[in-house]
Parts: sequence; structure tokens; C-alpha cells
Amino acid sequence: MPITYNEQSREFHLYNDQISYLIKILANEQLGQLYFGKRIPERADHDYLVENKYRPVTSYVFDDEYSFSLGNLKQEYPSYGTTDPRHPAFTIQQPNGSKITDFKYVSHTIYAGKKALVGLPATYVEDKAEATTLEVTLYDEVIEVYMYLKYTIFEKHAAIARSVSFKNVGQAEHKLQAALSLNLDLPDDDYEWLQFSGAWGRERHLHKSHLRPGIQAIDSARGASSHMQNPFVILKRPYTTEEMGEALGISLVYSGNFLARAEVDEYAVTRLQIGLNPFQFSWCLKPNEIFQTPEAILAYSDAGLNDLSQTFHRLFTTRLARGYWRERKRPILINNWEATYFDFTEEKLLAIAKSAKKLGIELFVLDDGWFGKRTKENAGLGDWYVNHERLKDGITGLAKKIHDMGLMFGLWFEPEMVNKDSDLYRKHPDYIIETPRRHASHGRKQYVLDFSRKEVVDNIYEQMVKILDEGEIDYIKWDMNRNITECYSNAYPADQQGEIMHRYMLGVYDLYERLLTRFPKILFESCASGGGRFDAGMLYYAPQAWTSDDTDAIERLKIQYGTSFGYPQSMMGAHVSASPNEQLGRITPLKIRGDVAFFGAFGYELDLATLSPAEMTEVKKQVAFMKKYREIFQYGTFYRLKSPFEGNIVSWMVVSQDKNQALVGYYKILNDVNCEFRRLRLPGLAATKNYHVSEENGTDLGDFTGSELANIGLVTTDASAGENRETTDFYGKIFILEKRDN
Ligand code: GLA
Repeated sequence: MPITYNEQSREFHLYNDQISYLIKILANEQLGQLYFGKRIPERADHDYLVENKYRPVTSYVFDDEYSFSLGNLKQEYPSYGTTDPRHPAFTIQQPNGSKITDFKYVSHTIYAGKKALVGLPATYVEDKAEATTLEVTLYDEVIEVYMYLKYTIFEKHAAIARSVSFKNVGQAEHKLQAALSLNLDLPDDDYEWLQFSGAWGRERHLHKSHLRPGIQAIDSARGASSHMQNPFVILKRPYTTEEMGEALGISLVYSGNFLARAEVDEYAVTRLQIGLNPFQFSWCLKPNEIFQTPEAILAYSDAGLNDLSQTFHRLFTTRLARGYWRERKRPILINNWEATYFDFTEEKLLAIAKSAKKLGIELFVLDDGWFGKRTKENAGLGDWYVNHERLKDGITGLAKKIHDMGLMFGLWFEPEMVNKDSDLYRKHPDYIIETPRRHASHGRKQYVLDFSRKEVVDNIYEQMVKILDEGEIDYIKWDMNRNITECYSNAYPADQQGEIMHRYMLGVYDLYERLLTRFPKILFESCASGGGRFDAGMLYYAPQAWTSDDTDAIERLKIQYGTSFGYPQSMMGAHVSASPNEQLGRITPLKIRGDVAFFGAFGYELDLATLSPAEMTEVKKQVAFMKKYREIFQYGTFYRLKSPFEGNIVSWMVVSQDKNQALVGYYKILNDVNCEFRRLRLPGLAATKNYHVSEENGTDLGDFTGSELANIGLVTTDASAGENRETTDFYGKIFILEKRDN
């Protein structure tokens, strides 16, 4: 059993080959945190790690004992208000207004496997032997509430999944005002904090700063995980690089409001937390009710950031993503949005599909505008039935025509939204989220449906099922194009209004779950004005997500590079779009647009009919190239090599599971002249294997061992090393490494 409990020391040791996590039941019966990091051996006790100094200006818990202060102790799931003045992991307000709690250890269970979280996305196992779970039960006898701290350690991943639930067994009603998923008190503060922040069109850029005394945090209060912040944070040692050193990451498996926070106290202890954002949150814990937090994943590496990311990638692709499409090659798609916007006819769509088929593309996706009165953005959302004026044979007819061409057929929905100009709104004006007697703000003329209400989710489910039953749909792009404002639900009383943001997410998850259960073979791609809800929660339902509305290859370098820290490349929707680019007008060669998009769920988003014959030939080649190497591009082990946040040259690579093949993406943003002799060290290969290296245009670069490529490096110097002007701005290429028989 990789979780042991020592009755003498009252310590739990969660371990696998790579990591250890130590918990102790403290003298006051609460749980203390002793250690998280690289695997350590068993030992009779770790009492030497429990701080017991009497410090000035401190407080103490026991009457005759001056040395026990929660403020000086590292804890598992701390409360505020006795002797710990730091930010707590939870807050429960009681009927008398008090927020003081005292949860004491009652019992624990250790079992093989992992239980599902009802109504919430979470990692899972397929065989009980893959993981072991510890559930510790604590109880506060004054308020009659149980707390269950849950930890699952995976056998093959350097990761622990954590969540917490509360059960009210008394008669009084309590109010949860905070309930985070993970708290980790670390013994020092010598860490850099890496966050992935941005805005629409420039999501998940890497930002790094050293921890400092006090609080540093990121959050979202928008009703979605957001473009601006991402529920994923890394703490790394200052010396840690991509290839070496210690780092740990926390990821919240959730798509709504969140908080990730580090608080460095006066003794340089770092309290790291992630969970539901307590800001504007509250939850009535009624008698006999249970509240379950989302799950958080904690991962560790002592071998650098690439290794840490790969742990998240492996865990997420194999044990968070689910179902039919989990590890299947993703179809190469053409999406009509940037080709036509709302201005399409069936003829136009079929023409795009026909050219797509000729080029080897596999999936045609009809984006916004096929339903209700949706010919522009002010109408139609909420009316999920086909507009027969635009598509005379309906979705069924169009899907059939597309299928007859030998293509798969995909469709766009924005299930959570409604326009006021829609039949749904006219019939159910109370279905939107708005505050009584207050102005209701719109975004793109659309309003958010109140998914905290089951009847609203049911309505949309039934409408969608009708279309999906008829149309033989292979793929759904599930969009969500605005955030929640004036949050209020007509269906809940005053004291439950703090629940709506979370209940909304539960409604979204419920709709996803019901659709997936009924249509298990549909491939879902999540989207929120690009990457506004790109998180581990969504991955549980939709194995791919539209990474950003910004399809410019140069911008995508930063977006995909930043995203790769926490998420696998198979999740990243990446399309070749037109040049000049729609979002920023930049003109880039078709080549680099393909070379960047290959490292993801690949597709096209442009009017194929406007391509020149030369471009058509190039697209055909790209599609064929992607098909040849798709498995490695999408599921290979991903390495970041050169950062777009640090220089003009950017590079990343993927290596096949057996290490017999690898593909290196190499990008030079601006051209240079008479430059240095460049080498790029390639990790991840087998040292003794011999690799043949070539470029995708056929240029042969010779044979090298994995050891040479890792230590000497691959020579990447191009024509710009001399006076030759063969290279241009926005230059990209792919190096192909294939194992040769020695
Ligand atoms: C959002 C999406 C786009 C497209 C449009 C359609 O902006 O991110 O890809 O689907 O909506 O309205």
C-alpha cells in the first residue's frame, strides 16, 4: 500500500517511487503538514519537524503549554481565528455569527483506487491498483459538522489529487464562506511563482516573480476560469530550469471562479492554496447536506519544468480526459468561421468542404449562424433549431452531404447563452442571470442563461438532443462568449445568492455529462471567445479546447508555449488561418503557420477557395505531413526548448513513446544576418540510439546519436549565418529525427 499510517507517531506517509507526502495528527488533533517532495524512506517519526518554539508575540492553544501555536505550525487544512492569523483554507459562519471552528481527527480510511466526485470533473483510475486514497475524517462537535480530507496518490505519476467535503449532521444551518481544495504549507519561501496570464487574444503568457513576504495571488471572479488568469501555478526554485531542479505545480480541475494564492509569513513559511474563489462565494450547508469542493492536483519534479509539465500532460491525457476520443488521433478540421463569418450559404459551405476533402482534411465544422434567426450577433442564441432559409435541407441534409463527401461533420453551439431576440427569451425572460431592479449588462448582445436552474439546463439539453439525434454530428464546438455580470438567480432565496456562480458551473458540467452519456462518440471542443475557459475541468468533458481566437503564428508561439506548462498539446486547438491575420493584420508565410499549428489539435480556419494553386499544394503537403506524424505531434512527450518570452528563436519538440522518432519545431521570429553558429540541445532522446536528422523539405542533416544531440546539440544554423538571404522574417521549420538501425 503506498499509503501507510504509523499508530505510534500518528503519521501518514503517502508515497510512490517518485514522491512522498507526510501528514501528522498534531497534539490538538488537527492535521499537520510535515513534508512534500522527492521520495524519502520510512522513519519511526518526524517529530523533529514539528515547530515547538515559544516565540515572542505569539499565542498558544493549551493552558499550561506555551509552545503549541497553530501560527507556527505547518498545517493540512487550516482555519483562521484561534492562533493562526494567516489566510485559512475554509471559513464556516455559524448561526451566532462566529467563524471559529475546531475540527479534530476522528478516523481515517485507506483504500485502493479512487472514487468519483459527484457532479464534478476529476481524475480517475481504470484499475484500483493505479492509485491509493486516504480519507481523513475530522469533526467539530460544537457545530456538528464533519470534514473529509481526501488524498489520492497515483502509482505512476508524481502527483496527488486532493479535495475536501463537509457534511452537516446537526440541526443548525451553517454558511461556508470559503472552501478551498488544497492547502500546502511549505517550509521555506525560496521559490519563483509562475503564473499564466493574459487577455483575449493573448492567453496564458508566462509571468514569473520571486515570492515575497505577504500575499501574492491570482483569481477569477468572472464566472469562468478566464482569459486573464489560469487555475494553474508553478513554484520553482530560482535555479530550476526546464531540464533540472525542483518545482511543484498545482492545478484546479474546475472551470469557474477560482483563487490561487501564496502567503509567505514572518518565518518564511509559504502557504500555497488553490480552490473556489472565496470572493463573493458562500454556500448554505443545511442539515444533512454535503458540500464537495472541486479537485486540485499537486505535482512535483526534481528534474526541471519539462518533467513537471510532462507529469501533468500524462495524467491529464490518460486519467482526466475520457471516453472515445481520449487517445484517438484528432481529425484535421476546417472551420468556416474566419472564411465566412455569418455570411454563408449552403453552396459556399459545400464548396469549402469540397476543397477541404481534396486537400485531405477530415472534418468540416459549421460555426456560428446556422440556427434560429442568427444572421448576426444580436439574435438567435437560445433557439437551437435550424434556420431553413439558410440551410434548406436542415442540418440533417447538410450533414449527409458532408458525410457523402467522406468528411466528418461538426457543429457550433453556445448552449449557455441567449439573445433577447429569440423565441427562448420571449417565452422565458426569467431564464437569464440578472439582478432584480438593476440594469442587465450584455456582451455581444447576449445574456447568460441561469444554468444554476435545472429546468434551464433541461430546456437546452432537449433542444440539443433533437439536433444531435437527427443530424449525425461527429463533433461539437461548445462556445461561451461572455462572462457573468449582475449575478443573481430568481430561483434561489437571498441567503443562497452566493452559490450561483458555482451552481452555474455545476449546471454546465451536468449538461456536458448528459450529452456525453447519450452521444459518447461526439468529439467536443470547448471554447470561450478563444481560450477563456481553458482548464483541467473542461478537459474532463472536452478533450480539446480552442486555445485562442488569435491564430497568428507568432502570437501563437507565446500562447501555445505558455499553455504547455500545464496542459497537453492534444488539448490545444491550433489552426492555420489566413494571412494577413484577422486579429492583427500580420503577414506570415503559410509555412510557419503550419509549423506552429502542427503541435496541437490541427486544423484550418480560412477560405480555401481563395488560396493560390501554390498554396493549395502547400496545404496538401501540410495535411499529409500532419497525418504521417499526428500521433507524435499530439501524444508525444513534449519538451520546451527555447522560450518566446526570452528571445527571437523559439523551439519545442515532441518525442514518440518509444523514443524512435522526434519532431523539433524551430522558429525564428525576425530574420537576422551574419548570426552566430547555432546549436540546440535536444533532451528526451535515447542516448545510445542513432537518429537520422532531416528537414521536412528533404534536406538531409546526417546521423547523430541521442547522446550527441543532447550534449553537443543539433546544429540549426541557417543561411542567415552568412550573407545569404534565404531566410525571412517569421521563419519556421520542422526537424525530423528517425531512429536508424545501429
Ligand atoms: C467566438 C469563438 C470563435 C467563433 C465565434 C462565433 O468568438 O471563439 O471561434 O466561434 O465565437 O461567434
